[in-house]
Amino acid sequence: MIQLENVGYTLAGRAILSALSFTVPAGRTYVLLGPSGCGKSTVLRLVMGLIQPTAGRILINGVPLDGRKKNPGGPTRGMIFQSSALFDFLTVYENIALGLRKKGVFTEQEIKNRVQQELDHVGLGDDPDLLTKTPGQLSGGMRKRVAIARTLALDPEIILYDEPTTGLDPIMAELIHDLILRVHRRLNVTSLLVTHDLTTALRVADEIGFLYQGKIRESGSAQKILEEAGPLLRQFITGCLAGPIRINGGW
Ligand SMILES: Nc1ncnc2c1ncn2[C@@H]1O[C@H](COP(=O)(O)OP(=O)(O)OP(=O)(O)O)[C@@H](O)[C@H]1O
Ligand SMILES: [Mg+2]
Repeated sequence: MIQLENVGYTLAGRAILSALSFTVPAGRTYVLLGPSGCGKSTVLRLVMGLIQPTAGRILINGVPLDGRKKNPGGPTRGMIFQSSALFDFLTVYENIALGLRKKGVFTEQEIKNRVQQELDHVGLGDDPDLLTKTPGQLSGGMRKRVAIARTLALDPEIILYDEPTTGLDPIMAELIHDLILRVHRRLNVTSLLVTHDLTTALRVADEIGFLYQGKIRESGSAQKILEEAGPLLRQFITGCLAGPIRINGGW
Protein backbone atom coordinates (compact mmCIF):
# COMPACT_ATOMS: atom_id res chain seq x y z
CA MET A 1 0.00 0.00 0.00
CA ILE A 2 1.18 3.51 -0.81
CA GLN A 3 -0.22 6.45 1.19
CA LEU A 4 0.42 10.13 0.64
CA GLU A 5 -0.73 12.32 3.52
CA ASN A 6 -0.90 16.05 2.84
CA VAL A 7 2.30 15.88 0.84
CA GLY A 8 3.77 19.19 -0.24
CA TYR A 9 6.82 19.86 -2.36
CA THR A 10 8.17 23.37 -2.63
CA LEU A 11 11.16 24.19 -4.77
CA ALA A 12 12.89 27.57 -4.66
CA GLY A 13 9.83 29.11 -2.99
CA ARG A 14 7.42 27.70 -5.56
CA ALA A 15 4.80 25.14 -4.46
CA ILE A 16 4.89 22.30 -6.99
CA LEU A 17 2.63 20.04 -4.91
CA SER A 18 0.45 21.05 -1.99
CA ALA A 19 -1.58 18.96 0.45
CA LEU A 20 -1.62 15.97 -1.85
CA SER A 21 -3.34 12.94 -0.32
CA PHE A 22 -4.27 9.63 -1.87
CA THR A 23 -3.95 5.92 -1.16
CA VAL A 24 -3.05 3.07 -3.47
CA PRO A 25 -4.34 -0.12 -1.82
CA ALA A 26 -2.10 -3.21 -2.08
CA GLY A 27 -2.42 -4.95 -5.42
CA ARG A 28 -4.21 -2.06 -7.11
CA THR A 29 -3.34 0.33 -9.91
CA TYR A 30 -3.78 4.03 -9.24
CA VAL A 31 -3.36 6.50 -12.09
CA LEU A 32 -2.53 10.15 -11.60
CA LEU A 33 -3.85 11.91 -14.66
CA GLY A 34 -2.96 15.47 -15.39
CA PRO A 35 -1.62 18.00 -17.85
CA SER A 36 2.05 18.50 -18.59
CA GLY A 37 3.97 20.18 -15.78
CA CYS A 38 1.35 19.54 -13.06
CA GLY A 39 3.83 17.61 -10.89
CA LYS A 40 3.30 13.98 -11.90
CA SER A 41 6.96 12.99 -12.20
CA THR A 42 7.63 14.82 -8.94
CA VAL A 43 5.10 12.55 -7.19
CA LEU A 44 6.89 9.46 -8.48
CA ARG A 45 10.30 10.80 -7.48
CA LEU A 46 8.90 11.36 -3.98
CA VAL A 47 7.42 7.86 -3.72
CA MET A 48 10.67 6.39 -5.06
CA GLY A 49 12.53 8.27 -2.31
CA LEU A 50 14.70 10.18 -4.79
CA ILE A 51 13.54 13.50 -3.29
CA GLN A 52 11.95 14.33 0.08
CA PRO A 53 8.59 16.04 0.65
CA THR A 54 8.74 19.49 2.20
CA ALA A 55 5.43 18.84 3.98
CA GLY A 56 3.35 15.81 4.93
CA ARG A 57 4.50 12.22 4.71
CA ILE A 58 4.53 9.15 2.52
CA LEU A 59 3.91 5.68 3.95
CA ILE A 60 4.70 2.39 2.27
CA ASN A 61 2.79 -0.50 3.79
CA GLY A 62 2.07 1.76 6.76
CA VAL A 63 5.73 2.65 7.38
CA PRO A 64 6.74 6.29 6.77
CA LEU A 65 9.51 6.78 4.21
CA ASP A 66 12.56 8.07 5.99
CA GLY A 67 14.65 10.34 3.79
CA ARG A 68 17.70 9.81 5.98
CA LYS A 69 17.89 6.13 5.09
CA LYS A 70 19.14 5.53 1.61
CA ASN A 71 18.01 1.93 1.57
CA PRO A 72 14.95 1.85 3.82
CA GLY A 73 14.11 -1.84 3.45
CA GLY A 74 10.42 -2.63 3.08
CA PRO A 75 8.90 -3.53 -0.27
CA THR A 76 11.07 -3.13 -3.36
CA ARG A 77 10.06 -0.24 -5.59
CA GLY A 78 10.78 -0.27 -9.31
CA MET A 79 10.36 2.73 -11.56
CA ILE A 80 9.91 2.92 -15.30
CA PHE A 81 11.16 6.41 -16.08
CA GLN A 82 9.55 8.84 -18.52
CA SER A 83 12.67 8.66 -20.69
CA SER A 84 13.03 4.85 -20.19
CA ALA A 85 16.44 5.72 -18.64
CA LEU A 86 18.25 2.81 -20.22
CA PHE A 87 22.03 3.05 -20.44
CA ASP A 88 22.83 3.86 -24.05
CA PHE A 89 26.34 2.48 -23.80
CA LEU A 90 25.14 -0.94 -22.61
CA THR A 91 23.44 -3.66 -24.63
CA VAL A 92 19.85 -4.69 -23.94
CA TYR A 93 21.22 -7.77 -22.18
CA GLU A 94 23.53 -5.72 -19.96
CA ASN A 95 20.82 -3.18 -19.18
CA ILE A 96 18.53 -5.89 -17.82
CA ALA A 97 21.36 -7.89 -16.22
CA LEU A 98 22.79 -4.89 -14.36
CA GLY A 99 20.39 -4.91 -11.42
CA LEU A 100 20.57 -8.69 -11.13
CA ARG A 101 24.36 -8.55 -11.09
CA LYS A 102 24.30 -5.89 -8.38
CA LYS A 103 22.47 -8.30 -6.09
CA GLY A 104 25.56 -10.50 -6.23
CA VAL A 105 23.69 -13.77 -5.73
CA PHE A 106 23.11 -15.06 -9.25
CA THR A 107 25.37 -17.05 -11.56
CA GLU A 108 25.79 -15.76 -15.12
CA GLN A 109 23.60 -18.63 -16.34
CA GLU A 110 20.84 -17.65 -13.89
CA ILE A 111 21.11 -14.04 -15.05
CA LYS A 112 20.92 -15.15 -18.67
CA ASN A 113 17.80 -17.22 -17.98
CA ARG A 114 16.16 -14.37 -16.10
CA VAL A 115 16.91 -11.82 -18.84
CA GLN A 116 15.38 -14.17 -21.41
CA GLN A 117 12.34 -14.79 -19.18
CA GLU A 118 11.69 -11.08 -18.72
CA LEU A 119 12.09 -10.39 -22.43
CA ASP A 120 9.56 -13.18 -23.08
CA HIS A 121 7.15 -11.51 -20.66
CA VAL A 122 7.30 -8.21 -22.54
CA GLY A 123 6.96 -9.90 -25.92
CA LEU A 124 10.56 -9.38 -27.05
CA GLY A 125 11.93 -12.85 -26.40
CA ASP A 126 11.91 -14.13 -29.98
CA ASP A 127 14.69 -12.02 -31.44
CA PRO A 128 18.13 -13.28 -30.32
CA ASP A 129 19.84 -10.28 -32.00
CA LEU A 130 18.03 -7.94 -29.63
CA LEU A 131 20.27 -8.92 -26.72
CA THR A 132 23.36 -7.38 -28.31
CA LYS A 133 21.67 -4.21 -29.56
CA THR A 134 22.00 -0.92 -27.69
CA PRO A 135 18.92 1.16 -26.74
CA GLY A 136 19.71 3.65 -29.50
CA GLN A 137 19.04 0.94 -32.07
CA LEU A 138 15.51 0.26 -30.79
CA SER A 139 12.15 1.90 -31.45
CA GLY A 140 10.52 3.91 -28.66
CA GLY A 141 8.05 1.10 -27.95
CA MET A 142 10.82 -1.48 -27.72
CA ARG A 143 12.79 0.76 -25.35
CA LYS A 144 9.74 1.06 -23.09
CA ARG A 145 9.35 -2.71 -23.07
CA VAL A 146 13.04 -3.27 -22.30
CA ALA A 147 12.72 -0.72 -19.47
CA ILE A 148 9.72 -2.65 -18.11
CA ALA A 149 11.67 -5.95 -18.41
CA ARG A 150 14.59 -4.40 -16.52
CA THR A 151 12.29 -3.28 -13.71
CA LEU A 152 10.46 -6.62 -13.54
CA ALA A 153 13.77 -8.48 -13.23
CA LEU A 154 14.16 -6.86 -9.81
CA ASP A 155 10.94 -8.47 -8.48
CA PRO A 156 9.41 -5.18 -7.35
CA GLU A 157 6.37 -5.25 -5.10
CA ILE A 158 5.58 -1.69 -6.13
CA ILE A 159 5.89 -0.46 -9.72
CA LEU A 160 5.92 3.23 -10.65
CA TYR A 161 5.29 4.05 -14.30
CA ASP A 162 6.05 7.54 -15.64
CA GLU A 163 4.21 8.27 -18.91
CA PRO A 164 4.61 4.71 -20.23
CA THR A 165 2.80 5.43 -23.52
CA THR A 166 3.90 8.97 -24.33
CA GLY A 167 5.31 9.30 -27.81
CA LEU A 168 4.04 5.90 -28.96
CA ASP A 169 1.56 5.29 -31.77
CA PRO A 170 -1.89 3.99 -30.71
CA ILE A 171 -1.09 0.36 -31.58
CA MET A 172 2.11 0.33 -29.55
CA ALA A 173 0.35 2.22 -26.74
CA GLU A 174 -2.34 -0.49 -26.67
CA LEU A 175 0.36 -3.16 -26.50
CA ILE A 176 1.87 -1.39 -23.49
CA HIS A 177 -1.60 -1.13 -21.85
CA ASP A 178 -2.01 -4.89 -22.27
CA LEU A 179 1.44 -5.48 -20.89
CA ILE A 180 0.76 -3.35 -17.80
CA LEU A 181 -2.52 -5.17 -17.17
CA ARG A 182 -0.85 -8.56 -17.64
CA VAL A 183 2.05 -7.68 -15.31
CA HIS A 184 -0.50 -6.61 -12.79
CA ARG A 185 -2.53 -9.80 -12.95
CA ARG A 186 0.52 -12.08 -12.98
CA LEU A 187 2.45 -10.46 -10.13
CA ASN A 188 -0.33 -8.79 -8.16
CA VAL A 189 1.89 -5.74 -7.71
CA THR A 190 0.82 -2.35 -6.38
CA SER A 191 1.16 0.17 -9.20
CA LEU A 192 1.21 3.93 -9.41
CA LEU A 193 1.15 5.27 -12.93
CA VAL A 194 1.27 8.90 -14.01
CA THR A 195 0.21 10.10 -17.42
CA HIS A 196 -1.38 12.93 -19.33
CA ASP A 197 -2.93 10.35 -21.66
CA LEU A 198 -6.60 9.81 -20.87
CA THR A 199 -6.76 6.60 -22.95
CA THR A 200 -3.98 5.05 -20.87
CA ALA A 201 -5.61 6.12 -17.60
CA LEU A 202 -8.98 4.65 -18.58
CA ARG A 203 -7.45 1.39 -19.80
CA VAL A 204 -5.27 0.46 -16.84
CA ALA A 205 -6.60 2.21 -13.73
CA ASP A 206 -8.55 0.77 -10.83
CA GLU A 207 -8.77 4.36 -9.64
CA ILE A 208 -7.88 7.66 -11.28
CA GLY A 209 -6.91 10.91 -9.56
CA PHE A 210 -7.03 14.06 -11.67
CA LEU A 211 -4.05 16.22 -10.70
CA TYR A 212 -4.18 19.89 -11.55
CA GLN A 213 -1.91 22.62 -10.23
CA GLY A 214 -0.44 20.39 -7.54
CA LYS A 215 -3.72 19.07 -6.10
CA ILE A 216 -6.07 16.17 -6.79
CA ARG A 217 -9.27 17.79 -8.04
CA GLU A 218 -11.35 14.68 -8.75
CA SER A 219 -10.94 10.97 -8.24
CA GLY A 220 -12.73 7.70 -8.77
CA SER A 221 -13.07 4.74 -11.12
CA ALA A 222 -12.73 5.27 -14.86
CA GLN A 223 -16.52 5.03 -15.11
CA LYS A 224 -17.06 7.67 -12.43
CA ILE A 225 -14.43 9.98 -13.90
CA LEU A 226 -16.18 9.84 -17.26
CA GLU A 227 -19.71 10.16 -15.93
CA GLU A 228 -19.27 12.72 -13.19
CA ALA A 229 -16.46 14.91 -14.48
CA GLY A 230 -16.59 18.48 -13.21
CA PRO A 231 -15.86 21.46 -15.47
CA LEU A 232 -12.07 21.35 -15.11
CA LEU A 233 -11.78 17.65 -15.83
CA ARG A 234 -14.37 17.92 -18.59
CA GLN A 235 -12.24 20.55 -20.23
CA PHE A 236 -9.18 18.29 -19.97
CA ILE A 237 -11.13 15.29 -21.31
CA THR A 238 -12.60 17.06 -24.30
CA GLY A 239 -9.09 18.16 -25.19
CA CYS A 240 -7.94 14.53 -25.05
CA LEU A 241 -10.68 12.48 -26.57
CA ALA A 242 -9.96 11.17 -30.02
CA GLY A 243 -11.32 7.76 -30.85
CA PRO A 244 -13.20 5.04 -29.00
CA ILE A 245 -13.08 4.79 -25.20
CA ARG A 246 -12.04 1.53 -23.55
CA ILE A 247 -11.91 1.32 -19.80
CA ASN A 248 -10.42 -1.23 -17.45
CA GLY A 249 -13.42 -3.30 -16.45
CA GLY A 250 -11.46 -6.23 -15.11
CA TRP A 251 -11.70 -5.69 -11.34
N1 LIG B 1 14.51 19.92 -10.31
C1 LIG B 1 13.65 20.88 -10.70
N2 LIG B 1 14.06 22.14 -10.84
C2 LIG B 1 13.20 23.12 -11.22
N3 LIG B 1 11.89 22.92 -11.47
C3 LIG B 1 11.43 21.69 -11.34
C4 LIG B 1 12.27 20.59 -10.96
N4 LIG B 1 11.51 19.47 -10.91
C5 LIG B 1 10.29 19.87 -11.26
N5 LIG B 1 10.22 21.18 -11.52
C6 LIG B 1 9.03 21.95 -11.92
O1 LIG B 1 7.95 21.39 -11.24
C7 LIG B 1 6.79 21.30 -12.06
C8 LIG B 1 6.31 19.89 -12.13
O2 LIG B 1 7.29 19.09 -12.79
P1 LIG B 1 7.03 17.56 -13.12
O3 LIG B 1 8.20 17.10 -13.93
O4 LIG B 1 6.73 16.83 -11.88
O5 LIG B 1 5.71 17.66 -14.01
P2 LIG B 1 5.01 16.56 -14.91
O6 LIG B 1 3.56 16.61 -14.58
O7 LIG B 1 5.71 15.27 -14.76
O8 LIG B 1 5.24 17.13 -16.38
P3 LIG B 1 5.32 16.34 -17.79
O9 LIG B 1 3.93 15.89 -18.10
O10 LIG B 1 5.79 17.38 -18.75
O11 LIG B 1 6.28 15.21 -17.62
C9 LIG B 1 7.20 21.87 -13.40
O12 LIG B 1 6.74 23.18 -13.50
C10 LIG B 1 8.70 21.81 -13.38
O13 LIG B 1 9.24 22.85 -14.14
MG1 LIG C 1 6.73 14.07 -16.08
